[in-house]
Amino acid sequence: MHIVAGKEWTKLLVLFWTVVMAAERLANIPQVDITPDGVFKYVLIRVRSSEKGDDSSIDIVRGYAWANYHADIYERVATELEKGGGVDCECLGGGRIKHDSQAKKLHVYGYSMGFGRANHSITTEKLKIRYPSYEVTWADEGY
Ligand SMILES: *[C@@H]1O[C@H](CO)[C@@H](O)[C@H](O)[C@H]1NC(C)=O
Repeated sequence: MHIVAGKEWTKLLVLFWTVVMAAERLANIPQVDITPDGVFKYVLIRVRSSEKGDDSSIDIVRGYAWANYHADIYERVATELEKGGGVDCECLGGGRIKHDSQAKKLHVYGYSMGFGRANHSITTEKLKIRYPSYEVTWADEGY
């Protein structure tokens, strides 16, 4: 019976370890990564743990001046993250960010034709954490 108990314990440990590793993996993904200056498209992405029994997730902001389309950003980021294993991505919507590093201002607005409008208020909260000395604003307008 000690052997059975040991096996159960091992199973529990493995499960625990898997969940800890998945949480660790999510925690290590930067919540915000954007081009340092300019006006560019951005997407809000939900990254979920794909481990069985683990429903943790985080939402991340990615905006880049190199992207012609919102889908360019989503596809590159999702492919990269999913390649690492253990996570699935979903695009929650998009918009634009105006990043004025000189004036320390960020403005979130607009929408994505393909993905719809992201919840800019969520994006704004994340930008405020990443750029604490900035003035961050948003508006449900513009293209
Ligand atoms: C956006 O997110 C905020 C905070 O979670 C929520 O209160 C608000 O209702 C959301 N807005 C939309 C348009 O979904």
